[in-house]
Amino acid sequence: MSIVEQSRQDDVLILTIQNPPVNAFGVGVPEGLHAGLDVAASDDSIRAVVIIGGGRTFVAGADIRTFDLPREQTPDLRGTVDRLDRFEKPTVAAIHGTALGGGLELALACSYRVAVPDAQLGLPEVKLGVLPGAGGTQRLPRVVGVQRALEMMLSGTPVRADEAAQLGLVDQLVQGDLLTGAVQFAREHADARPLPRVSERQAEGGSPEVFAAARAGLQKTHRGQLSPGFIVDLAEMAATQPFEQGWDAEARLFMQAKDSPQSRGLRHIFFAEREAGKIPGLGKDTPQTEIRTAGIIGAGTMGGGIAMNFLNVGIPVTIVETSQEALDRGLSVVRRNYENTAKKGRMTMEDVERRMALLTPTLNMEDLKDADIIIEAVFENMDVKKDIFTRLDGIAKPGAILATNTSTLDVNEIASVTSRPESVIGLHFFSPANVMRLLEIVRADKTSQTVLATSMALARRIKKVGVVVGVCDGFVGNRMVHRYGDEARKLVEEGARPQDADAAMHALGLPMGPFEMSDMAGLDVGYLIRQHQAKVAGAPKPDGWLDRIVEQGRKGQKTQAGIYDYPDGRKPVPAASTDELLSTYRQEKGLTPREVTQEEATKRLVYSLVNEGAQILDEGIAQRASDIDVIYVYGYGFPAYRGGPMQYADEQGLQNVAADLERYGQTPAPLLKRLAEEGKTFSSYDRERTRG
Ligand code: 3HC
Repeated sequence: MSIVEQSRQDDVLILTIQNPPVNAFGVGVPEGLHAGLDVAASDDSIRAVVIIGGGRTFVAGADIRTFDLPREQTPDLRGTVDRLDRFEKPTVAAIHGTALGGGLELALACSYRVAVPDAQLGLPEVKLGVLPGAGGTQRLPRVVGVQRALEMMLSGTPVRADEAAQLGLVDQLVQGDLLTGAVQFAREHADARPLPRVSERQAEGGSPEVFAAARAGLQKTHRGQLSPGFIVDLAEMAATQPFEQGWDAEARLFMQAKDSPQSRGLRHIFFAEREAGKIPGLGKDTPQTEIRTAGIIGAGTMGGGIAMNFLNVGIPVTIVETSQEALDRGLSVVRRNYENTAKKGRMTMEDVERRMALLTPTLNMEDLKDADIIIEAVFENMDVKKDIFTRLDGIAKPGAILATNTSTLDVNEIASVTSRPESVIGLHFFSPANVMRLLEIVRADKTSQTVLATSMALARRIKKVGVVVGVCDGFVGNRMVHRYGDEARKLVEEGARPQDADAAMHALGLPMGPFEMSDMAGLDVGYLIRQHQAKVAGAPKPDGWLDRIVEQGRKGQKTQAGIYDYPDGRKPVPAASTDELLSTYRQEKGLTPREVTQEEATKRLVYSLVNEGAQILDEGIAQRASDIDVIYVYGYGFPAYRGGPMQYADEQGLQNVAADLERYGQTPAPLLKRLAEEGKTFSSYDRERTRG
């Protein structure tokens, strides 16, 4: 079967693009379209051409997998678009599913666009660190106006066809069968001359103020990123220059953006996110349990946040607490969160009530007997969790999934107190659980395939990115963050100020550095763990500088004082008391402070993550390096345009990473050392293992 099928309905030639799953503009598509256009050009009985997607969608974009191919091997989207723009007979793009990126650019070069009302049209290139590279930056402003085009190109968010019709982006909505409607439309416009060409139109609304505001806005929304600035420059060209100039500039800037580490990082995360959903040995036909109702134990911050995920997608939740007071407090927090969303206009009060009506509070654990999944979200204490699971074992119906939201504890040990360890799994949500997209899915030794497959599907249903990890202290994310925290503390002992370490991470694009994060999480948590561990090991009482801060009663943001001061309750301000404490501490310990450069701080902090990540990968706790990146981007705010810590290390070169680790007194993990010696990358390691 050809990638572009030709068929005829009398005087209309139909070109159907068949490149599953999403009809990406890949190898074979331009050839097929050109062949079709050749036929249409040479046959006088053909009066118009309809271009349509076979299967579930119109063209969802250029084929991202071809971006790293040599230029001559990349499918010639621009050439095809250019030919369509000049074509002498009417061309009609018939859109269903998604017309994204190169797909919308193809449609914009046609004479007309028709679509089913729920089709989605957009230019999401910015999300891949590139820009519309086949005329989109020049044509979209000429159709929908500069302001709207900027919004669409900078957010990457598509619009539904019915809205697109109001914007003039779609010429006609088709209510019934798309092809029938498109052919009829094509016939009605077969004799239209001159043909409408977007490239000949003017872009409206491009005042200097609009561009100045757009550039200023980028500081907030896309700080440090390359392609959004290019998009604004190109939209300005669309408004002020002849089409050809903008078209040429677009080609140049597209290549520059595409070849940047930022675009490689974003493309890496695009595929990594999809890859994370694939579990070796877990077939697509693995039976799943139907999740109709959920139970949650604990109505604290985590429990309430977790409940919201289920309520948002219409799954009723029964939430259990030990006291009426705790239950009331938990429910009022959930309600307040929803009401705040409603105040911002992102949901109606009816939506709030509909969600709250799905939430049943109870003090009786027996009320969970009919739940299809039960998630325990109480505080981190093994004895308490074991007690809950022992009781759940006697209450839950057979086949119910029993999940723990533990962030560090041994899920095997928790499962061992039940008579059905195959039903037990870890579902580690990240705070705030109703916002953060990551879900670490902790597979214990005896977790069944069904429970795993159901949990993966559930993650998608509640709009999380699920990543499967193995059992170990802290799993993937927190285990790495512990090492990062240790390194941050060391940097300060050696002479850096806490705000220097945090600034190094801001410079990399993280919203928070290690110490701002610790203050937010509460310094007492780590303090208690360190004290407990020392006691168990019979070691002396820990006396690090951070321990001393906690002993001053400064526990972080919640006490308005931690490593930083919080005069307004939220914004960290460097604290004089911390400077004094550090200077006394260093004196007592005989530490001579030295200057730590930002480069050193960045390398030591990020490479501590990478080194632990390599060890985790080697132990099989994470399945792929790219899974670790997904965890850091979706759970810890690592900027997606850096691709996650492992991809960042690949970009630096693993030899350099290993050498720097040694230079700064850390021992490279065996896997990292080996890959560095063999001149490999984490990406190549992932690829080899997938093939193997
Ligand atoms: N190129 C290559 N592969 C693509 C692709 C693309 N543009 N879009 C999707 N795929 C692949 C996915 O990797 C996935 O592969 P897998 O099954 O092997 O994992 C498969 O298609 C299905 O994708 P999803 O799992 O994401 O399917 P959904 O139904 O959930 O979503 C979608 C479909 C909305 C189209 C979503 O895939 C998407 O957003 N794709 C990216 C769209 C995009 O960014 N287009 C612009 C590309 S850049 C461009 O066009 C440059 C031009 O201006 C020059």
